[in-house]
Amino acid sequence: MDANSLRKKFLDFFKEKKHAVIPSASLIPENDPTVLFTTAGMHPLVPYLMGEKHPEGTRLADVQKCIRMSDIDEVGDATHHTFFEMLGNWSLGDYFKKEAIELSWEFLTEVLKLDKNRIAVSVFAGDKDAPKDEEAKKIWLSLNMPENRIAELSKKDNWWGPAGITGPCGPDTEIFYCTGKSEPPEKFNPEDKNWVEIWNDVFMQYNKNTDGNFLPLAQKNVDTGMGLERTLAVINGFDDNYRTELFWPIIKKIEELSGKKYEGNEKAFRIIADHTKAAVMILGDDKRIEPSNKNQGYILRRLIRRAVRYSKQLNIIQNFTIKLAEEVIKIYENVYPEIKKNKEFIFNELEKEEEKFYQTLEKGLKEFNKWYKDPEAYWEENPNAEKIALEKIKDKPKKMPGFIAFRLFTTFGFPIELTIEIAKEKEIIVDLMDFNKELQKHSELSRTASAGMFKGGLADASEETKKLHTAAHLMLEALRRVLGPHVEQKGSNITPERLRFDISHPEKMTAEQMQQVEDLVNKQIAKDLPVRCKEMPLEEAKKLGATGVFEHKYGEKVKVYFIGEGAQNFSKEICGGPHVMRTSELKGTFKIIKEESSSAGIRRLRAVLL
Ligand code: ALA
Repeated sequence: MDANSLRKKFLDFFKEKKHAVIPSASLIPENDPTVLFTTAGMHPLVPYLMGEKHPEGTRLADVQKCIRMSDIDEVGDATHHTFFEMLGNWSLGDYFKKEAIELSWEFLTEVLKLDKNRIAVSVFAGDKDAPKDEEAKKIWLSLNMPENRIAELSKKDNWWGPAGITGPCGPDTEIFYCTGKSEPPEKFNPEDKNWVEIWNDVFMQYNKNTDGNFLPLAQKNVDTGMGLERTLAVINGFDDNYRTELFWPIIKKIEELSGKKYEGNEKAFRIIADHTKAAVMILGDDKRIEPSNKNQGYILRRLIRRAVRYSKQLNIIQNFTIKLAEEVIKIYENVYPEIKKNKEFIFNELEKEEEKFYQTLEKGLKEFNKWYKDPEAYWEENPNAEKIALEKIKDKPKKMPGFIAFRLFTTFGFPIELTIEIAKEKEIIVDLMDFNKELQKHSELSRTASAGMFKGGLADASEETKKLHTAAHLMLEALRRVLGPHVEQKGSNITPERLRFDISHPEKMTAEQMQQVEDLVNKQIAKDLPVRCKEMPLEEAKKLGATGVFEHKYGEKVKVYFIGEGAQNFSKEICGGPHVMRTSELKGTFKIIKEESSSAGIRRLRAVLL
């Protein structure tokens, strides 16, 4: 089955079940400063999920184009993308769990005729906020889903929303398909990569209020999302989305341009194909976003520049993005005519951005290596740069000072995330606090001096990291309260999309502990606490009980950030900043999306503000 038939079959099916088919909204959300892109079909529908009447009725279905940057680190595997299409159906206070699950099941097994023996599901296991979703489980059992194919998972996996701090949310049930050629195992193991999640049915039956309580909602909604690329792969027997018609012509073009085979080079091929496609879809949107250092433009720049860097690995010569864009446009022009209409704009912007980065990529990498090979000599040449202690492993530097990342950013156009990635390949971490300090100095410079060329963009690009940085302080304190005072910060890495944080803790955190930490952080966000900074001698800060990374070399005088009022400070932490002024500026729900072992006695957490 091809992609067009799949889209049509989905919409026809739901039309027949009395749903109104609505068009895909723009990739750039209207009137929503909290998100840069439409990340799910439900985004444009939030007002109606909150009770506003939808002009088309109470049953809706659509195919929505989405950009999800939170998945960018996963791109390179067979199933994750930054741009994807979501097939969705909604009930706005109309049908609920039984009908929603039955509709999904009927579509998958009777319309798509998927093998029932390769399907498994997960349901919400229950916690202190809401009970186990017995109802969903019963419905699955009534459809003859074997019990060992129904996993019960925590809020981290089986809960969706609210979109902001408060609002509609609820448990969900996710549907998985077992890819690969061998017989599927009897028992469903959600950790097993062969089981690919294809559809998510969310039951919005709670309203999370400002106290963090979950109250039953008057209007119960259903919000579902099925990944088009994954489903298309599955029904055509592929265990790799890039082999479907939505990617294969792009992959073939990369083979032609590079003279290399996809097999054996999958990661680079996939990243180039995925990022170029996402860039084309953003540029092709009628909102006409251009690459810049700000908001959506910055993401667009990151995508294009990362694709360019990987193209070098495959020895592709310049001007390749346009050639790939032609393939992308051919794939989508009949579904999203705007990309055909905006073709000239797409080509012009891609060409300009690729050219710009081409001129500096090589030089920037040389600069990187110059520092890497002899960091001491590099400092000699840059006597003005603040010298921080050089940590080394086996004669090689372990941490890159901010001023180098900053130079790569301003002089060579390396988005900070790209520098982090290149550094990671050499097992180096970038000192992001230090980098942010440079950024701040820099924006002060641009305000005071006449250096107008940096105006606006840089500070804006760091707004998201600033919020996550403040969230990291809240999280560290919450972790210490939930797990104990032995918890110390062992490293942190913050991008505009997420924060990664290493802590000393001997064992895996339980779902309940993670939930408690999230709740504690979200409570502080809701309380709108002030964030203040005071300078004091290091000894005094220690006496006050301020936390800090004491392996770092601090000067005699340090900055301590206090979050909270007077004696009721929630957190005190030695830190260079920058931070937001009040916790309400974090605007979102803090969520831990991953918890894993990093090394002995160290846990690595990833968290986002949704
Ligand atoms: N909103 C739900 C999701 O994106 C369906 O997974």
